[in-house]
Amino acid sequence: MILFQDEFKLFFNDSSLQEIADKCLKISLDAFNVNNGNIPKWTIALEELNALPKGKIELDEPYIKLDQSGINTEIITTALKRLLPWRKGPFMFNSLKLESEWQGGLKWQRLQNHITPLKNRRVLDVGAGNGYFTLRMAMEGASKALGIEPFLLFNYQYTAIKSLANNTTNTMLLPIRLEEMPKLAVFDSVFSMGVLYHQRDHMQHLSQLKEMMTPGAELILETLVVDGPNGYSLIPEGRYAQMRNVHCLPSIETLKSWLVQANFKNIQVIDISKTTPEEQRKSEWIGDNAASLEDFLDPSDSSLTKEGHPAPTRVIIICQN
Ligand SMILES: C[S@@+](CC[C@H](N)C(=O)[O-])C[C@H]1O[C@@H](n2cnc3c(N)ncnc32)[C@H](O)[C@@H]1O
Repeated sequence: MILFQDEFKLFFNDSSLQEIADKCLKISLDAFNVNNGNIPKWTIALEELNALPKGKIELDEPYIKLDQSGINTEIITTALKRLLPWRKGPFMFNSLKLESEWQGGLKWQRLQNHITPLKNRRVLDVGAGNGYFTLRMAMEGASKALGIEPFLLFNYQYTAIKSLANNTTNTMLLPIRLEEMPKLAVFDSVFSMGVLYHQRDHMQHLSQLKEMMTPGAELILETLVVDGPNGYSLIPEGRYAQMRNVHCLPSIETLKSWLVQANFKNIQVIDISKTTPEEQRKSEWIGDNAASLEDFLDPSDSSLTKEGHPAPTRVIIICQN
């Protein structure tokens, strides 16, 4: 069991979060109790890391960095490699650089100066991966930064990072899906990044995000888009850029109309970026024979995916409840 109940209690100690604490704890405990053949290996990794002295967690752009004096880098490397693949990051452990597949610092740079500053805000990061961005939200001064992420490996990766840190009481990652969250308006900033296109029902996702937001709260939505007029969406048959579970890629105008329909206000497009091989790259930290962006594109035309769809372009939209 990797959920630290003491840490949970400490995190949920504010009056609003207390209202959702019991349900969040129950769902998380159930999720951690599933049969998953990798859990013994992941647990060994956590035990190895837990035996090490803790250090200060801080930002060394773009790395989330942990500094523990006198630590053997080989021990950390062995333990962290039990938790492959590392999709999100990057992280640094003393001199060891964990170069994850995604260079998360680039996404953060694109939105950092546009969002309402997170200082003293309660923040929800939906589909948080291993919590790289959740930790960055906490580092921006959020009073609480809660990440929810159903994929268990990412919860173990997050726990691995936290087990080496001595100063992270304002963040938590829990194995919960958005649709399982108790519906209470408790968050001042809600992030949904890289999640909408994985949903079968995009309108349901948007309204569930809204239900978690206090009046006037801010939504930061990042998702894949395609060129096209209002009303146009690409619904890939089969895979998109080799991903199986991509349901719908709207045009930007279509996406804005969905947000209007979901009753969001002040809808602003703050960034449109093509995904580059600098941002999504091959790395020893995604394991042997692992593929990345360059393998997902048409080798003779990098403006297309292997399936002949437009190559990945992402938009970031900010709007208010
Ligand atoms: C492409 S990753 C994005 C991770 C991170 N937010 C980022 O921007 O790099 C999408 C994540 O959303 C999670 N996810 C998918 N559906 C979800 C849902 N309904 N509720 C919460 N998380 C979800 C997936 O498990 C996956 O880890």
